[in-house]
Amino acid sequence: MKPDPTGGAQANNVAAPTPEAISRAVDLLRAGQVVGLPTETVYGLAGDGLNPAALARIFEVKRRPLFDPLILHFADAAGAFALAAEIPVAAREVAQRFWPGPLTLVLRKRDVVPDLATSGLPDVALRVPSHPVAQALLRAFGGPLAAPSANRFGRISPTDAQAVRAELGNAVPLILDGGPCAIGLESTVLMLSGDKPLLLRAGGISVEEIEAIIGPIQPATPVDDRPQAPGQLKHHYAPRKPLRLVADFAEIPSRADAGWLAFGPQAALASFPGVVENISPEGMLRDAAAHFFRALRKLDDDPRVATIYATRLPARGLGLAINERLQRAAGCGDL
Ligand code: TXA
Ligand code: MG
Repeated sequence: MKPDPTGGAQANNVAAPTPEAISRAVDLLRAGQVVGLPTETVYGLAGDGLNPAALARIFEVKRRPLFDPLILHFADAAGAFALAAEIPVAAREVAQRFWPGPLTLVLRKRDVVPDLATSGLPDVALRVPSHPVAQALLRAFGGPLAAPSANRFGRISPTDAQAVRAELGNAVPLILDGGPCAIGLESTVLMLSGDKPLLLRAGGISVEEIEAIIGPIQPATPVDDRPQAPGQLKHHYAPRKPLRLVADFAEIPSRADAGWLAFGPQAALASFPGVVENISPEGMLRDAAAHFFRALRKLDDDPRVATIYATRLPARGLGLAINERLQRAAGCGDL
């Protein structure tokens, strides 16, 4: 055998989701280890949701602060609701409509949920992903999987297996390769444990779609020192390079070392001397969401690019969710 320059047995930790790989993932999870898991939103770093040692390992691998709670994933709504102490009617209604899919519900937790999963909060975040590999693993494992996005804390979320590998390297023994994520943005996080529905994170299901079912949702106002959802930090999803959010593309400097995260048909692209990643040349928000993190990562990794520039997308549907991530990536907080 040739010597392996990347360091031994774990170098090939990316595996096709064969039945053998799923069963190896289950063995690892039962032993308290973590695995890279494809979902329809972004890739997750999964561990046994009821095993505090596994939860601790997730925080350690991600270098995530312990005050930022995790989402528990389930194969179906019955499993998810079994860990909630109270299930409001609105929760059943949106679950019926959007699960499995990119929606996370924050509800009062039952005592069985470890404090580490909720960072000591009285509520737990529950989600039923639709990705067939996530479904297969959840069913084979037979319990909840805690899974934050599989990036180092504060960095760009991974939307394919190679990006997980680039983020976490050999810190994970196994990354299941389920192809590129169809949605490309994290789930929408909706808190239903209080008096009124509260949007904690815009995501893969638009606010308009949810409001059509349960009526008005209040936006949560993130602040750095005391965020309502601990994940609402102003600087998040960040590339290593500076990202500048400009009001108009005319403000993007005409330079070879400028990277442009573009959207829609843009006449100016033809004469732009820098590096362009157009997340949807046709101007479709759903395509833009699916390509957003990958394009951001590409510009971040491109040695020709010194600074990344972007303009906001139309402020509706998934455009709002993308804008929120652009704002945070640029470090300028809430919308
Ligand atoms: O699409 C997704 O949701 C992905 C995939 C892997 O499922 N997961 C994900 O997890 O984005 P993570 O950990 O990166 O983001 C979870 C968000 C954080 O903003 C966190 O603060 C919030 O959910 N959250 C979790 N539990 C909460 C709770 N009990 N109360 C309020 N917010 C909570
Ligand atoms: Mg995340």
